[in-house]
Amino acid sequence: MQRLVVGVSGASGIILAHHLIKYVCDKGFMVDLVMTPQALYTARYELCEDISTAKRFIATFAPSIQQNIHLHGIHDVGSHIASGSHLTYGMVVIPCSMATVAAIAVGLGDNCLRRAADVTLKEKRPLVLVPREAPLSELHLENLHKLARLGATIVPPLPAWYTRPQTIQDIEFFIVGKVLDALKIEHNLYPRWKAEDTAKELACH
Ligand SMILES: Cc1cc2nc3c(=O)[nH]c(=O)nc-3n(C[C@H](O)[C@H](O)[C@H](O)COP(=O)(O)O)c2cc1C
Repeated sequence: MQRLVVGVSGASGIILAHHLIKYVCDKGFMVDLVMTPQALYTARYELCEDISTAKRFIATFAPSIQQNIHLHGIHDVGSHIASGSHLTYGMVVIPCSMATVAAIAVGLGDNCLRRAADVTLKEKRPLVLVPREAPLSELHLENLHKLARLGATIVPPLPAWYTRPQTIQDIEFFIVGKVLDALKIEHNLYPRWKAEDTAKELACH
């Protein structure tokens, strides 16, 4: 069974982590999950007040999904994902706060999420970051630029209007679909651009 490390930090957009975990577990991946304390704070605010611990976050998934999630403690820098010898498909940090972006950019492996990202980079496995902040300062952009140069893929949580989203969930699925594209994992989360169909449709108006 392939393993994907999913780090969840305290930026807005925890629902994106929820959709991603559900989708990849449904596809048969094992998720190595690590959440920062601030992610739980944001989860309580954005998802449900009962989510006071990572275990409670996991409890929001169906049992068939829960059995594919392996939780790692944020302070456990000795867990498997803190070692390159633990083979994984790669890692996604979703959503990724600017604090976590900065820490990864300087190789600060002082918690399990940051150490796992550092390991993913050193092992040259896919590292996908979903940084959410607006506006982005020069410092944020410098850190993201540095990480992109080091091999990370930066997927900002932005909609595409050409998909004509009707609901917020359409937009969320598009963003998660882009993350899966970056990982080369097949999905049907958003309609792909078909230039010919669109040209025909526009000709009708
Ligand atoms: C409700 C809420 C939303 C937040 N949204 C963001 C955000 O979108 N981007 C960001 O960089 N920080 C955001 N923050 C601030 C981070 O949570 C804060 O910088 C924290 O130290 C990040 O820690 P972590 O990266 O270890 O999770 C938010 C905080 C709260 C309470």
